[in-house]
Amino acid sequence: MSKLPLSFLNLFLFLLLTAIPSSVISQNVDTEKAILLKLKRELGNPPLLQSWNSSSLPCNWTGISCTDGKVSGLVLSNMNITATIPATICDLRNLTVLDLSYNYITDGFPRVLYNCSKLQRLDLSQNYFVGPIPDDIDQWLSTLKDLNLAANNFSGDIPPAIGNLTELQSLYLNNNQFHGTFPKEIGNLANLVLLGLAYNGFVPSKIPVEFGKLSKLTFMWITDANLIGPIPDSFASLSSLVQLDLAINNLEGSIPGGLFLLKNLTYLYLYHNKLSGEIPQKVEALNLVEIDFGTNSLNGSIPEDFGKLKNLQLLNLYSNKLSGEIPSSIGRISTLKTFKVFTNNLSGVLPPEIGLHSKLEFFEVSTNHFSGQLPENLCAGGVLLGVVAFSNNLTGEVPQSLGKCDALLTVQLYNNNFYGEIPSGIWTAINMTYLMLSDNSFSGELPRSLAWNLSRLEISNNKFSGPIPTGISSWVNLIFFDARNNLFSGEIPVELTSLSHLTTLLLDGNQLSGQLPSNIISWRSLVTLNLSRNALSGQIPAVIGSLPDLLDLDLSENHFSGEIPSKLGQLQLVSLNLSSNQLSGQIPDQFDNLAYENSFLNNSNLCAVNPVLNLPNCYIRPRRSSNKLSSKVLVMVLVLAITIFIVTTILTLVAVRDYMRKKHKHDMASWKLTSFQKVDFTQANILSSLTENNLIGSGGSGQIYRISVNRAGEFVAVKRIWNVRKLDEKLEKEFVAEVEILGTIRHSNIVKLLCCISKEDSKLLVYEYMENQSLDRWLHGKNRRSSSGTNSVHHVSLDWPRRMQIAVGAAQGLCYMHHGCSPPIIHRDVKSSNILLDSEFQARIADFGLAKMLAKQGEAHTMSAVAGSFGYIAPGKSIRHLQKCFI
Ligand SMILES: *[C@@H]1O[C@H](CO)[C@@H](O)[C@H](O)[C@H]1NC(C)=O
Ligand SMILES: *[C@@H]1O[C@H](CO)[C@@H](O)[C@H](O)[C@H]1NC(C)=O
Ligand SMILES: *[C@@H]1O[C@H](CO)[C@@H](O)[C@H](O)[C@H]1NC(C)=O
Ligand SMILES: *[C@@H]1O[C@H](CO)[C@@H](O)[C@H](O)[C@H]1NC(C)=O
Ligand SMILES: *[C@@H]1O[C@H](CO)[C@@H](O)[C@H](O)[C@H]1NC(C)=O
Ligand SMILES: *[C@@H]1O[C@H](CO)[C@@H](O)[C@H](O)[C@H]1NC(C)=O
Ligand SMILES: *[C@@H]1O[C@H](CO)[C@@H](O)[C@H](O)[C@H]1NC(C)=O
Ligand SMILES: *[C@@H]1O[C@H](CO)[C@@H](O)[C@H](O)[C@H]1NC(C)=O
Ligand SMILES: *[C@@H]1O[C@H](CO)[C@@H](O)[C@H](O)[C@H]1NC(C)=O
Repeated sequence: MSKLPLSFLNLFLFLLLTAIPSSVISQNVDTEKAILLKLKRELGNPPLLQSWNSSSLPCNWTGISCTDGKVSGLVLSNMNITATIPATICDLRNLTVLDLSYNYITDGFPRVLYNCSKLQRLDLSQNYFVGPIPDDIDQWLSTLKDLNLAANNFSGDIPPAIGNLTELQSLYLNNNQFHGTFPKEIGNLANLVLLGLAYNGFVPSKIPVEFGKLSKLTFMWITDANLIGPIPDSFASLSSLVQLDLAINNLEGSIPGGLFLLKNLTYLYLYHNKLSGEIPQKVEALNLVEIDFGTNSLNGSIPEDFGKLKNLQLLNLYSNKLSGEIPSSIGRISTLKTFKVFTNNLSGVLPPEIGLHSKLEFFEVSTNHFSGQLPENLCAGGVLLGVVAFSNNLTGEVPQSLGKCDALLTVQLYNNNFYGEIPSGIWTAINMTYLMLSDNSFSGELPRSLAWNLSRLEISNNKFSGPIPTGISSWVNLIFFDARNNLFSGEIPVELTSLSHLTTLLLDGNQLSGQLPSNIISWRSLVTLNLSRNALSGQIPAVIGSLPDLLDLDLSENHFSGEIPSKLGQLQLVSLNLSSNQLSGQIPDQFDNLAYENSFLNNSNLCAVNPVLNLPNCYIRPRRSSNKLSSKVLVMVLVLAITIFIVTTILTLVAVRDYMRKKHKHDMASWKLTSFQKVDFTQANILSSLTENNLIGSGGSGQIYRISVNRAGEFVAVKRIWNVRKLDEKLEKEFVAEVEILGTIRHSNIVKLLCCISKEDSKLLVYEYMENQSLDRWLHGKNRRSSSGTNSVHHVSLDWPRRMQIAVGAAQGLCYMHHGCSPPIIHRDVKSSNILLDSEFQARIADFGLAKMLAKQGEAHTMSAVAGSFGYIAPGKSIRHLQKCFI
């Protein structure tokens, strides 16, 4: 009251009293009402405080609580408050509770509250407070019992003065930006019941031994707070402890045996640390409900005493070095819901009764040395969500009872010795999503219908047999289907081609026969198709060439015949294998290069134009037939052929010339040049030189020309991207934007893009010319021709220092794209043919994704999901999200 100017207050009271003249109100209430109305104004009149008006009494207003008619509590949680805390609050003399949590207050620690001399509970959590906690806090707020500053941006050290707030019963400082230390004086808070320091980036700190003095503490939460060193033995004195969470730190040493003697301990989370040694064997904390020790280096065996934990619901011991057998008594705990012991060295049989006595939800025992059978009654409780038992030495049949387990989401049994048929209910469990059964000896046929939601079905390396059922068209959500190396037979049903989400189809190593369905209706998402090692025959359907996302195609070791459809050339494949078939004719131009060296082996009637592929040349007749002709006839035929050729050529040239002249003009006009540096050539220079003479190579995605741009004999390399269907406007814009960014990159290990010349359906990328062409030619090329005209290159070989220099250079280029650009650029197709070498053999990476992006246009949104080339998948995002590079 003393803080308000008297005249203002009088006026205010006058207004109030005239507004409700009939009320009989005490002076006290009036004062508090005036304070609160002022406070409301100072808080910026939040709409949620509408009830704070003079027509009623404060004790009835939103967020106000009173004791003996005096305001004692102000709970303004989640009120959209943005204003800083007004000093007026402390004019409420009897205020004990102030809760401003879940607002948008941006301020330092509110020292104005120092005058709230009776404050017991202060909750400022979930705001944007910044800066340190003042170190004189104990001089003022010594009455505090509950202090909650969680989920703000407080920083600095937590001051030792906190340890002087001896009334404190709860202290939450978790989820802040404290990057300094926390004081051992917290151990002096003899009344403390709840302590939260979790999720702060403290300097690496040991847990103070003094924390063991907190004998009333029931809840200690210091997850992910940079703790190091051991868990103090003094923790054995935390006699009231109910929950201890020290997960996600760097704690070392063994778990103090005293912890398991704390009678009330119920939740114990120590996962993701570096704890070692054995789990204490003597257990008196019979109230334990959850134990999570996952991801440590604990060794020894699982204590027999765990079987005594009648309330245990969760037992996570995964990713340790535990050995020995699991006490079978654990299987009799009637409360157990979660059992995760995967990735250990455990052996013996699984507890046979597990699941029988409790409502088991998670059963994860993978990557151990368990033997024997799966427990019979895992799903007796009817709520089992997953059976994850892969990579063990389990055997026998899958229990029939699992076929009646509707809740199952996943069954992962791969890499064991199971045999027999899969209980039919497993195929159809309503929520089943992943079914992974590979590498066992399962037999039987595939079911006609499957769980509607099944997205991943892995059954490779088993003894499944019979046909691929026509009912497969109902497996609508299947994404990944791996059935390689089984005994499937019969034809591939056309119904299989209707699965529009399928990305991977592996049916290699079966006994499938007949022709491939020619009308592939909706394999829109297919990325990998492997049908090798079957007995498939007939022609390769041309429609495979229009699968928009296909990257890997393997049809080898079948009986396919006829020509390779030229349409296949449209695919932008990472791998192609058509070997060991009976294919004939010329391979599509796009494959006529070294990248496909091993794609066409063992097909006796295939031919190529480019000699690098080791296939017969399509235009040289086999010598055998010429022997049969007399030389006279041969000469006559030759002369005739040459004459006809010359005459035709001349006629054609004359006819075409006029047309070309007109067309040329038109063409020139529609090309657009986007330049990134000062260039001393025009688009006409470039376009007129795209001739056979200047062609120096053709790769997976386009032809490359070497073009002289001025009299000084300087060259540029021009990459012409073919097969570019018309880009829609949006993609065209994106292409230009991305080319522009690449054009601005300056790094000595990345080829400079000088300009881009484009029109609707064709793109030319003009790069600086690299004297020594691509690394690929040096490593694999059969005829190392010097393209600069001199023959000097011919004699230089790649010695080891030079190879080293190239490797380091290429790595530096990639590193720059990954780490120097934000978001990172990934190449997605790093291979020796995309590493160019300048005259000093410095590596320069070329072709950052552009060609690929063009090829995949139309599926823009799927781009980043598509993998790159031969095993190389870089981190980060695809080029499509490119924004800027730090130059
Ligand atoms: C004043 O508060 C009462 C509730 O206490 C509310 O019903 C009324 O609408 C408020 N009056 C104004 C003018 O906001
Ligand atoms: C508070 O509101 C209740 C009804 O919500 C009413 O009965 C009571 O009279 C009000 N008290 C005061 C002091 O306004
Ligand atoms: C808080 O403010 C936002 C926008 O300013 C509004 O959408 C929201 O409804 C408000 N919340 C409440 C509880 O009034
Ligand atoms: C409110 O505070 C005054 C002054 O500190 C004190 O005399 C009074 O007893 C308090 N009332 C209540 C209900 O706490
Ligand atoms: C506390 O109130 C006194 C007057 O009663 C005033 O002088 C002082 O500045 C206030 N302190 C704070 C931190 O607001
Ligand atoms: C705690 O309070 C005592 C007595 O007021 C004082 O001497 C001491 O310095 C305080 N400790 C800290 C760390 O502020
Ligand atoms: C343990 O819990 C029980 C029941 O909640 C309680 O009565 C007892 O005081 C607690 N023991 C200790 C040492 O806190
Ligand atoms: C797996 O179990 C079989 C018996 O079922 C046994 O012969 C074999 O040695 C075991 N293999 C391993 C690696 O433990
Ligand atoms: C299947 O999943 C849905 C959604 O999670 C759930 O509501 C339903 O209970 C599950 N069905 C069974 C049989 O568990």
